[in-house]
Amino acid sequence: MNIKSKNLTKIIEDLFNLSEKFSSQIVFTTSFGIEDQVITDIIVKNNIPVRLISLDTGRLFHETYLVWQKTIDKYNCNIEAFYPDNDDVEKLLTAKGPFSFYESVADRKECCYIRKIEPLKRALTGMKYWITGIRAEQTVIRQEMEYFVKDDIYGVIKYNPLIDWTFKDVEDYLKSNNVPYNSLHNKGFVSIGCQPCTRAIKPNENFRDGRWWWENNSGKECGLHSGK
Ligand code: ADX
Ligand code: SF4
Repeated sequence: MNIKSKNLTKIIEDLFNLSEKFSSQIVFTTSFGIEDQVITDIIVKNNIPVRLISLDTGRLFHETYLVWQKTIDKYNCNIEAFYPDNDDVEKLLTAKGPFSFYESVADRKECCYIRKIEPLKRALTGMKYWITGIRAEQTVIRQEMEYFVKDDIYGVIKYNPLIDWTFKDVEDYLKSNNVPYNSLHNKGFVSIGCQPCTRAIKPNENFRDGRWWWENNSGKECGLHSGK
């Protein structure tokens, strides 16, 4: 691989340095999107001792579970699963039914809070570093982010190793390293979240247009990375 090979060495170095200093206080959260698969490949192939965590919202695509399993099979790694609080989900669906997120941005954010943010808070309790697969070109908010960002909401330092990678850089890495990826990417899905809130994008659309596509001005964030 030539593209980004210079910062690939730096990423591996940074990950080793962090894991040496903070051992069990570093977590990488994966949604099994293509960026996350690159990071998993880097971590596992280089035997870097970092916890891998996934937040199962309960509304993921079948294809996402398939790539989750493929990842375990290929890398023989342990991926910790975090789930939403039972009571919260029961109360939400009892009060509002299974599709409340289509009603308003507030309703959608309520569901994202219960299914993603609260479990993430638990996952990050006691942690010092949180590794994510965000890239600057994904959203306006992410364009302002850097490799290392202090995250006051979760009380951690966020490390975004692929922040300056392009979509093509990610694709090239996947191909040249034979990394398993979500088969929905072959069907026009670029950014993949929950099944009811994600659709494929058309050729002239932006990366995030397939996420919460019925909303226009919500910033296309669930709150994991924006706090809103
Ligand atoms: S989101 O905020 O819109 O859902 P996005 O799908 O772009 O986030 O993913 C960005 C990063 O957030 C991923 O690289 C991953 O680190 C983390 N992330 C998002 N969703 C999950 C999830 N369900 N489980 C674990 N990590 C996730
Ligand atoms: Fe709920 Fe949709 Fe957010 Fe998933 S993306 S947590 S289904 S609102």
